[in-house]
Amino acid sequence: MKEDRSKMPTNIFELEESAIERKSLYEKIINFSEEFIHTIEEQKAYHFDTNEIAEYDSFFDIDKKKNSIEDILVFFKERVLNTGLNAASGGHLGYIPGGGIYTSALGDYLAAITNRYAGVFYASPGAVRMEDALINWAGRLIGYENNYGGNLTSGGSMANLIALHTAKHHKKITNSNVTKHVIYCTSQTHHSIYKAFKVIGLDACVIRNIPLDSKFRISIQDLKTQIKHDKHIGLIPFLIIANAGSTDVGAVDPLIKLSVIAKSHNLWFHVDAAYGGFFILTALGKDKLKGIELADSVIMDPHKGLFMPYGLGIVLVKNIKYLAEAHSYDANYMRDAKNENQYSPADLSPELSKHFRGLRMWLPLKLYGETVFSDYLNEKIQLAYYLFQELSLIGYKTLCEPDLSVVAFRLELKAYDSDVLNKIILDYIQQDGRIFISSTILNNKLTLRAAILSFRTHKAEIDLLLHLLKKIKTHLDV
Ligand SMILES: Cc1ncc(COP(=O)(O)O)c(C=O)c1O
Repeated sequence: MKEDRSKMPTNIFELEESAIERKSLYEKIINFSEEFIHTIEEQKAYHFDTNEIAEYDSFFDIDKKKNSIEDILVFFKERVLNTGLNAASGGHLGYIPGGGIYTSALGDYLAAITNRYAGVFYASPGAVRMEDALINWAGRLIGYENNYGGNLTSGGSMANLIALHTAKHHKKITNSNVTKHVIYCTSQTHHSIYKAFKVIGLDACVIRNIPLDSKFRISIQDLKTQIKHDKHIGLIPFLIIANAGSTDVGAVDPLIKLSVIAKSHNLWFHVDAAYGGFFILTALGKDKLKGIELADSVIMDPHKGLFMPYGLGIVLVKNIKYLAEAHSYDANYMRDAKNENQYSPADLSPELSKHFRGLRMWLPLKLYGETVFSDYLNEKIQLAYYLFQELSLIGYKTLCEPDLSVVAFRLELKAYDSDVLNKIILDYIQQDGRIFISSTILNNKLTLRAAILSFRTHKAEIDLLLHLLKKIKTHLDV
């Protein structure tokens, strides 16, 4: 049947609710959020997932039916919040914890309501100036001086991708010469870097896995020897990847030494500071991260070190021109938006339309200022050190003194295979659910790790972890 285009649909005002309807919806969401925050300490950090599909999971499906906000919230709590990892909980010590500060959520609310087009200066000079201010702030924090630029991304993986694409473009790496170029990583390099290599074709480079020292940092001597060897056999050293806070143990590579090597061999020097970058707001972090300002590109994640909700990373490139050259575009329909004097975020990343993510970062920083974030980060450093010391006292082996706020440890008992034993401990902690830790492999052995970064993690959570570890050890050590 042919559509009658002369007839207007009748319900076209439904998406513009009345003030009364808005208030009613808003109050229900706010009440729900308030209850979530009020009860956060009693909530589990992890819901051990049995992978069972509940009968009413069909409620996830979209069809023509309307539903009440009450039914939706009941379902959301039961089938979304009460499953898996509760990343808003202070008991979350796994992987790299996120945060979820309230004022950032308010920023998101305002961003979505006002829906400014943050990708292009012409469309929203204000939103772009806000993003620029945040990039300038982050750049100044790490010690960049002039001509640097960057972009607010959805997270560290996208930030790494943008930085590495810029490196590839600047060093003129093409399909015809890629196999001659060498990248230097370690086993502590985050997998998002390897993923980025795959996406942008750098996986065809020669990728060297440089050995680590006893603190899981790149061995400078081995790197030097490898570069020398590669040059000798006619390869072209191209890129050094450094960690400023590795995921496994929070290790910070010797950044100054790496920058000297990079400079003397004309390599691009990239620092992955997704986890560790914002520790530069603390005295210890500033000291550990010395040399980060010498990197050609750096990434750091506000959804880690600034406790913001997931969806916020930063890429910084020392020379903004390289970032712009790697992402330049042209299209007839964009001609009105062209501005020779001002970069837009869309000139500096693969995104055109983008979440107005500047507001979720800018609002908390404007409300509180920097200092409160340094105080919280200092607390995390102290908690990690406390955990590190207490673990030895209760008979666990720690792998190395934490550089920042990740502690790697394992239990070793004569009667057990080490991997089996530590898996039993991991399962015990996860099934209890009040604290969530994760595991990794270090020195070929299953290793437990506690990453302390949530703004809601305080001494009580660390003491609870220690209590659980002590209890399971007593139970196993018969
Ligand atoms: C060191 C490091 N780099 C990169 C990433 C990737 O960041 P994202 O998960 O925000 O994409 C992570 C994530 O934990 C990380 O720890």
